[in-house]
Amino acid sequence: MTPTLAEFAFGLPKAELHLHLEGTLEPDLKFALAERNGIVLAEKSVEEVKATYDFTDLTSFLAVYYPAMEVLQTAEDFHDLAWAYLLRAQAQGVVHAEMFFDPQAHTSRGVPFDNVITGYRRAAVRAQDELGITAELILCFLRDFSAEYAMATLMDALRYRAWIIGVGLDSDERDNPPGKFAAVFARAKAEGFFLTMHCDIDQAGSIDNIRAVVEQIGVDRIDHGTNIVEDPSLVALAKERGLGFTTCPVSNSFVTEQMKSTEIVSLLRDGVRVTINSDDPAYFGAYVGDNYVALAEQAELSLTDLVQFAINSFEASWLTPAQRAAYVARVQEYAAAHGVALPV
Ligand code: HPA
Ligand code: ZN
Repeated sequence: MTPTLAEFAFGLPKAELHLHLEGTLEPDLKFALAERNGIVLAEKSVEEVKATYDFTDLTSFLAVYYPAMEVLQTAEDFHDLAWAYLLRAQAQGVVHAEMFFDPQAHTSRGVPFDNVITGYRRAAVRAQDELGITAELILCFLRDFSAEYAMATLMDALRYRAWIIGVGLDSDERDNPPGKFAAVFARAKAEGFFLTMHCDIDQAGSIDNIRAVVEQIGVDRIDHGTNIVEDPSLVALAKERGLGFTTCPVSNSFVTEQMKSTEIVSLLRDGVRVTINSDDPAYFGAYVGDNYVALAEQAELSLTDLVQFAINSFEASWLTPAQRAAYVARVQEYAAAHGVALPV
């Protein structure tokens, strides 16, 4: 019997590659952490918190996102945040997660780097032990802070080298182009980190920034990046290099007017390694399985298309080739068990 779209999408083994741990802070956990740390919040109920989720673009989202982090203080808080995400992710079919964290959003307000990373790392190890989920951390620099602060953060991170698989770049892209961080990313590459950068949707100079991350920075992956469809020669280059694109349909519909399904599907049909992810699921109300369903409904995708997205999620991951192959085989077995044709 053919499963429903949601059943199939939620059960599909998948990797999540674009997920900000700080963006998984659900209002109920925010209240619990505030109480534990003796913080008095301006909002008094979940409804009041949700009423502040009034986003029209990336900037208005970030204006709500950063202040909420004040409740995160101790290693235990960071652990509890990541663990709550991993449980939700497991319920939506995630078997591997490469999770972003923003140390400067915490060190800039006096919380030690050590609290952040030891808490997150403990949740990642626990996910492997108790849930069978492989989980890795990606350190993101905040692009609206200076390159010097990013470099100092990278130096701090070297003490925890084995706990961090790669580095990324997030926050406000406006007036903060990739080239500002060229030296930081060159050093990170020399230290053996994988590289990714956000190329947010419909930014001024989007296509120039995408070209710079490919040609100048030499990233392994691009976060969002769907404006690349404006330049077919860059799409061809991305395909040739096997670059992964971590798109986030529901997030796109909050920070712009649409999911950008036309662009995402165009990349899929062109054979680019495009993936589906949740970005900041507590704020956009959709975890990764929900994103698969939303895009499939909007773009009338087949279940075979969803299988391709899941395969792409492992192929664009930073797992070893043997781990990638094992996960891809799991996806293929899942499709076969549900009578769904494999992508050709
Ligand atoms: N873009 C930039 N910064 C962010 C994002 C994003 O999608 N999510 C959290 N911080
Ligand atoms: Zn993001």
